[in-house]
Amino acid sequence: MNHSDDTHSSEGAGLSTPVGTRRTFFHWVTVAAAGFVGMGLAVPLLGSLISPALSRRKRDWVDVGGVAELPLGRPMQLDHVTTIRDGWMETKAQKAVWAVRRSESEVQVFSPICTHLGCGYRWDDGAQKFLCPCHGSSFDVNGRVTGGPAPRPLDVLPSKVEGGRLLVMYKDFKSGLTESVEL
Ligand code: FES
Repeated sequence: MNHSDDTHSSEGAGLSTPVGTRRTFFHWVTVAAAGFVGMGLAVPLLGSLISPALSRRKRDWVDVGGVAELPLGRPMQLDHVTTIRDGWMETKAQKAVWAVRRSESEVQVFSPICTHLGCGYRWDDGAQKFLCPCHGSSFDVNGRVTGGPAPRPLDVLPSKVEGGRLLVMYKDFKSGLTESVEL
């Protein structure tokens, strides 16, 4: 019987290793190693492509004006342009906020959206209240509900004072809820 070199080693029968089987084994080890290397490269690449799409809307701090220009205790509407990053999309939007200067360096900033169903409201000097034209909600200078169907106080926006400038991070909140929930 002819034992081919492709199928058996020249060693004794008890210690022989089939060459074909060994080649197949090394082939699959190489394929597996290449697969692991490929995955190692692909996963971070895929992550970097997908993560911006899955990430929440990101906003920046925006300079909305000098603190010294705000009167003490009287709400002022401050208009500004903010950049919104939503996944890969970057858009600029015109926004307004209501700022109330409490002291020389302390300012509270409210979202300009009524917490009832999302209308814009304004400060009324005569009534000393924020008034919403849609369904009659009103809020005092601290943002507390004083009348109408609004289910919660005005939403407070993150703000800080740096070098005499007021910085605000604009955010949107769900309307109609008793708790402040960011969109
Ligand atoms: S949206 Fe302001 S009272 Fe309804």
